[in-house]
Amino acid sequence: MEKIGILTGGGDCPGLNSVIRAIVRKALQNDYEILGIKNGWKGMIEEDIIKLDLDAVSGILHRGGTILHTSRTNPYKKEEDVKKVVANFKKLGLKALIPIGGEDTLGVAAKLYRDFKLPVVGVPKTIDNDISGTDFTFGFDTAVNIAMDCIDRLHTTAESHNRVMVVEVMGRHAGWIALYSGLAGGADAILIPEKPIDKDEVAALIKKRHSRGKSFSVVVVAEGAKMKKGSDIIQSEELDSFGHVKLGGIGQILAKAIENTTGYETRVAVLGHIQRGGSPTAYDRVLGTRYGIKAIELVMENKFGCVVALQGNNIVAIPIEEVLGKIKTVDDAMYNIASTFFG
Ligand code: F6P
Repeated sequence: MEKIGILTGGGDCPGLNSVIRAIVRKALQNDYEILGIKNGWKGMIEEDIIKLDLDAVSGILHRGGTILHTSRTNPYKKEEDVKKVVANFKKLGLKALIPIGGEDTLGVAAKLYRDFKLPVVGVPKTIDNDISGTDFTFGFDTAVNIAMDCIDRLHTTAESHNRVMVVEVMGRHAGWIALYSGLAGGADAILIPEKPIDKDEVAALIKKRHSRGKSFSVVVVAEGAKMKKGSDIIQSEELDSFGHVKLGGIGQILAKAIENTTGYETRVAVLGHIQRGGSPTAYDRVLGTRYGIKAIELVMENKFGCVVALQGNNIVAIPIEEVLGKIKTVDDAMYNIASTFFG
């Protein structure tokens, strides 16, 4: 029986289990054995492996997170770790490896394919929806719905107290979650990494709204949003193993700036990892399942060095290097729709 490895790397994401389940179910029907690598690339370095049979993937479709666990381990940080990954791939007798992850996890897969011809088929994953080459990643829809629900709840308390409520959502390089949840939740301003923040403009929007009789406002801000150049804002500079800054804090900074500039009482809610937890939506379960099926089909066809992607309503395969080094940011057309409702 030929063996195929799968791993989940980077931040977890609702829908990961649907991908794992789809791969295992389809593989077993075609007489392949699936090995689950625990904790992302860490499991490939440490040879931390479990066998995934029918029982292992039973009852996981509706569960958030990943049954394989995850980490942000980058084997390319240490030369010996890359060697261990390649050696363990051979030792386990794998036909192929399916890494499910974002830019970082897929970046490692692309390098392993380039440097060692390791047969990989990637599955793009992130709640941020910022992977280029694919229209939507699973997990995004769930995160947007969670954030929208929170915005609805914050709306009523903001209204009761005549306050400005700043809601900080995830979105490191791209403002998709902020934009979609803000649009769906009726936000009065949406601030995203693609559009540096001018606090006076935000204050003017809020004042305009209040001048037409409204006594409260809801502002949605993506965690990766930055103040315009020349601002005295200080943000965390702590880095993870891929060299990314650990974000968080813009909501607080913005709330203070709004309160000082407008004089309106302002509160902040940071949604954080709540957006990544819990049950995936139907959309994400179906999308994850479609990605999983396509990934295993590609392996069976010996098509490697690619990533599955959603383009229109089709799941296609694109070369892995096409998804790397560029981020799919919010386009002006979408932002202009949202900004119609600002202020
Ligand atoms: O990559 C998805 C994401 O949720 C980003 O939106 C966020 O910046 C980051 O992960 C948070 O990472 P961690 O779980 O390591 O704090």
